[in-house]
Amino acid sequence: MTLRAQNVLLTGASGSIGAEVARQLAARGARLALSGRREERLAALARELEAAGGEPPAVLAADLGRRGEARRLADEAIAALGEVHVLINNAGASLQGLTWVVGDRDEAREVLETNLWSPLALVAGLAPHMLERGSGAIVNVGSMARVSPFPHLGHYAASRGGLAVATQAMQLELGPRGVRVVEVALGPVDTPASRENRVLAGADRWLDGRPGLGDAQAAAATIVAAAEGDAQGVVFYPRVLRWPHGFPGLGRRYSRRAARHADLRDTTVRFGGPR
Ligand SMILES: NC(=O)c1ccc[n+]([C@@H]2O[C@H](COP(=O)([O-])OP(=O)(O)OC[C@H]3O[C@@H](n4cnc5c(N)ncnc54)[C@H](OP(=O)(O)O)[C@@H]3O)[C@@H](O)[C@H]2O)c1
Repeated sequence: MTLRAQNVLLTGASGSIGAEVARQLAARGARLALSGRREERLAALARELEAAGGEPPAVLAADLGRRGEARRLADEAIAALGEVHVLINNAGASLQGLTWVVGDRDEAREVLETNLWSPLALVAGLAPHMLERGSGAIVNVGSMARVSPFPHLGHYAASRGGLAVATQAMQLELGPRGVRVVEVALGPVDTPASRENRVLAGADRWLDGRPGLGDAQAAAATIVAAAEGDAQGVVFYPRVLRWPHGFPGLGRRYSRRAARHADLRDTTVRFGGPR
């Protein structure tokens, strides 16, 4: 599939990786709807893409941490673009706190809403139209934290595990009917979001160990390739992560080693991003 003249709804477009994805999609001639909470960032990105010669993107602000916003966003994207050929679920939130301390606090529920329920709600809003046309692509951006969790990041890892399994189920449900569903499993990428985790004792071992920190442009290129090509299942950035995916025991061993340096008595709870 080529992305020229394809209509793409991209969430998390105001973030580091998302903005790069938007630039690369626009360079391929895609028509974009950009979403995030920070509308001024989205508007600046839209102006940049238009100035570079792309079609003016639609800017659709939404707080995906709130139930109901994703379904509204799906409807707004259809209204703005006519139809949505490609959905890229890239928005992601996190918090830091011992999993047993955080429990089901409202803020933890927001992380799950953003990382799991909202992507599923967007699919529920858009997949019926894709099935009617017999084509479409859904790219769910995930994390290798699902096989290599770290203390204090249990809610984030759980949200990514949930999305990964739901993505597998949707591959079985939608793939045979012409809608491609792909997970992009990212390793640590050097962005403000991953830097936030550096306040955690031992997180440097987890982030900086093999395969090392990736960069936002290359991560974005993997996401765009997953949307554009005929990738199935899971694609990885960097590619070497296909090994701990295939042999999750490797990922868990990596986690256990890094976790020895974590502070298991620190009961601080921190919330990331521009809350
Ligand atoms: N960086 C890494 O090491 C890494 C590794 C694995 C996976 N990932 C995943 O890759 C994706 C992009 O990460 P990044 O490093 O580019 O992070 P980032 O710069 O923090 O971007 C996160 C994006 O998600 C959006 N978002 C967060 N909470 C939201 C909410 N409640 N409603 C709507 N949008 C929300 C943010 O938009 P607003 O703030 O404007 O709302 C922002 O555009 C995320 O899903 C992340 O989990 C990242």
